[in-house]
Amino acid sequence: KRVVVLLSGNGSTLQALIDQQPDSHYEIVAVFSNRPDAYGLQRAANANIPQHAFDHKDFSDRSLFDQHMMQKINQLNPDYVVLAGYMRILSSKFVRHFSGRLINIHPSLLPKHKGLNTYQSALESGDCEHGTTVHFVTAELDSGAIILQSTLPIRHSDTVQTLEQRVKSMEQKVYPLALDWLCSGRLICKDNAVWLDNQPL
Ligand code: GRF
Repeated sequence: KRVVVLLSGNGSTLQALIDQQPDSHYEIVAVFSNRPDAYGLQRAANANIPQHAFDHKDFSDRSLFDQHMMQKINQLNPDYVVLAGYMRILSSKFVRHFSGRLINIHPSLLPKHKGLNTYQSALESGDCEHGTTVHFVTAELDSGAIILQSTLPIRHSDTVQTLEQRVKSMEQKVYPLALDWLCSGRLICKDNAVWLDNQPL
């Protein structure tokens, strides 16, 4: 299946998707960034994946920027559009257009800790566990149907940095796996629920 990845930063998540690609049912056909200096673009170049960088500051508003991206992505005919550290809210038109084909990974056990700074917020709330969620993207932030969650215990000694490090290394296993299951057809979304191997999750 054809996959387009959107990112804004370092791209360690993209790297994990690239590394797992040979054993998976997806092919990353392009990487898009809204930041021309994102290191993720370099990672794409190193893997010979075409890259497209559009600076959102060159567009007068969000909907024009998203419309431009949408056109460019459509030309590539993707089966899935995968957000991997894409740090811009997408317009509802973009989200609707790719509905059911647009996925994200968020570093918390949704619906807890939506938005930014999830590590700090989990530590400050005294949570015993944290983790990551792969989900479909809908117009409301971090709220679409959950595809897969993975959990780890929070240690007394944890700081934002140590927790982030452990969650990120978990994300790098979980995201390629979830995408592979979607692309192989093991995982499907039907009747507003997510099914794995013909069982509702
Ligand atoms: C990941 O932790 C992901 O959960 C979040 O953004 C981060 C991206 O990191 N959505 P990187 O740019 O892939 O290193």
